[in-house]
Amino acid sequence: MGAYQDTYDRWRADPEGFWHGPARDIEWSRAPDAALDRSGDPIFRWFPGGRLNTCHNMLDRHVRDGRGARVALIHDSPVTGTVTTFTYAELLERVRVLAGALAREGVGHGDRVVIYMPMVPEAVMAMLACARLGAVHSVVFGGFAAAELASRIDDCTPKVVMTASCGIEPSHLVEYMPLLDRALELATHPVSRCVVLQRPQHEASLTPGRDVAWDAFLAGAEPADCVDVAATDPLYVLYTSGTTGVPKGVVRDNGGHAVALNWSMSAVYGVDAGEVFWAASDIGWVVGHSYIVYGPLLRGCTTVMYEGKPVGTPDAGAFWRVCADHGVDVMFTAPTAMRAIKRVDSRGELLAGHDLSRLRALFLAGERCDPDTLLWCRDILGGRPVIDHWWQTETGWPMAANCTGLELLPVKPGSPAKAVPGYDIRVLDEDGHDAPTGEIGGLCVRLPLPPGCTPTLWGGDERWISGYLSRFPGHYMTADAGYLDLDGYVYVMSRIDDVINTAGHRLSTGQMEEVMSGHPDVAECAVVGVADDLKGQVPMGFAVLKAGVDRPEAEVVAELVARVRREIGPVAAFKQAAVVRALPKTRSGKVLRGTIRRMADGEPWHMPATIEDPSVLDDFRVLLEGSGHTVRPHA
Ligand code: COA
Ligand code: AMP
Repeated sequence: MGAYQDTYDRWRADPEGFWHGPARDIEWSRAPDAALDRSGDPIFRWFPGGRLNTCHNMLDRHVRDGRGARVALIHDSPVTGTVTTFTYAELLERVRVLAGALAREGVGHGDRVVIYMPMVPEAVMAMLACARLGAVHSVVFGGFAAAELASRIDDCTPKVVMTASCGIEPSHLVEYMPLLDRALELATHPVSRCVVLQRPQHEASLTPGRDVAWDAFLAGAEPADCVDVAATDPLYVLYTSGTTGVPKGVVRDNGGHAVALNWSMSAVYGVDAGEVFWAASDIGWVVGHSYIVYGPLLRGCTTVMYEGKPVGTPDAGAFWRVCADHGVDVMFTAPTAMRAIKRVDSRGELLAGHDLSRLRALFLAGERCDPDTLLWCRDILGGRPVIDHWWQTETGWPMAANCTGLELLPVKPGSPAKAVPGYDIRVLDEDGHDAPTGEIGGLCVRLPLPPGCTPTLWGGDERWISGYLSRFPGHYMTADAGYLDLDGYVYVMSRIDDVINTAGHRLSTGQMEEVMSGHPDVAECAVVGVADDLKGQVPMGFAVLKAGVDRPEAEVVAELVARVRREIGPVAAFKQAAVVRALPKTRSGKVLRGTIRRMADGEPWHMPATIEDPSVLDDFRVLLEGSGHTVRPHA
């Protein structure tokens, strides 16, 4: 039997006891009383009684054990033309002082801090400083608009917001302060202190009394020691999209998270202390939390933080340049990024001249990885393993993967391979029964979820239970649909809710519909995710105008596009919308979004027997064909 199956079976035989081993790789100030607390079933808590500090495990212990001179963080920023490195000792010093400044500001155990920052090392320091104090950070991605930031501020009620004067997109600077000012106007929760990193590319004007520049904030601060917290105390809250516009605050605890992420670095990614790991993502997403910041530093690796794009900064060879310059051993990115490179450099010619001899494997996740992209990556990387793996903000680390650290299993393009030890993945039919092998159903994980997965949502077990655990009692519902093959490989096909994945970014079409509906001329609307060669999926909106509205359609469409950008943010990539006479509906009033999507994607579709007015779908066919889609005749 291979090492993967052996480990999986060991976990199956003792799903709680298994985690005592990985837990021994973490330093506890008080050892846990047990692996799992089941008393709150279906809310489970890992490592009850245990006490630790996550920042201690990421920095202090490495420095104490003589690894202070090792490089912890490389900030590679083609958009500013700088590369900056921090050893473990340097990073620790910077974090101690920042934590001291936050403590002086009154931030302590359990307080929340919102971090709304671009990809700069200070953002990592801010996360670690919070962890050091036992405070709870909530990082908000820079591509979100003020209203999104405001809703997160209101939900997690931070004492302090940490930000920067600007982010740098290849085509423009993103000024953060106007967005933050607007968010604080919109929010009902008052924030009395904002700490602002002034970047040389743009100086923000500060609001006296409320805002303080980063350096002034640090001046004279006493370095702070680690605060001991319970394993079950929250480390961070990360908001993610759901069915509606209300973002869900995914909570991560301290103990289970440290154990799982540290273990995943070796078991899933096959990376050891001292090696260089690069996740080309953003700290605003879960991938950035887990594998730019927490995982690599827990493990004692060097992590690369890249402030740039796969193409255009300056060219499609940027990823290979970074791998070569920093001796990256294992890399992780989203399929979209590789598709962007493939578009420009289909033969991989820009690899030439870059020494990739250290690169062992490329991991891809965040969206479905089409086999073409995977095979292309493998080809240009000279047959190195290219590993699709599947996970979500809620789980925080992979549910299915080819665990190269245990054993490289045969790669089946189109599948993120098998359940990672810790996850019992089931495919359930509508009635909650196991679906036969090969048949599509709801992808679920039998409870309890392993350490590191969210134990609940911020502000309420109720929402966690009703949103994820009630549909199939005893199971966590991933909201993805897919199937298992005879070898136990997982295939993830689509979401079963209103979530779409655009360039690896998780977005809610339901939320976009809410924003469109807020337009005074819109009577009703629908948004669907349609296939896109580069971004996987992009949103497309359809609006029915109120009776009597007599304005040029193009004007309304432009307003709708601007509205979604203003309310949700540029990251929504909402650029296509149309005014329609009516939406296709069933006689009971359900909008046939799935049918619209299948028509737009050139997939087979049929005229539903229950459709209220078939001529509406004919209008959609004409509209879609007019905008370049090839719609099949209906079955
Ligand atoms: N702050 C502010 N704005 C941001 C932003 C940020 N951090 N990130 C993206 N945006 C903006 C972009 O400027 C763009 O705005 P525009 O409409 O004015 O052009 C919009 O949000 C969409 O950005 P993006 O998704 O990056 O698309 P793009 O067309 O600019 O670039 C790719 C295409 C493929 C290069 C890019 O999507 C990419 O790098 N994808 C990989 C994604 C990834 O790594 N995801 C992590 C999940 S693991
Ligand atoms: P996020 O929470 O932003 O990480 O997005 C999680 C969602 O992205 C999942 O529920 C899937 O729909 C999708 N996803 C992530 N990784 C994969 C993958 N390897 N294959 C298919 N879908 C994926």
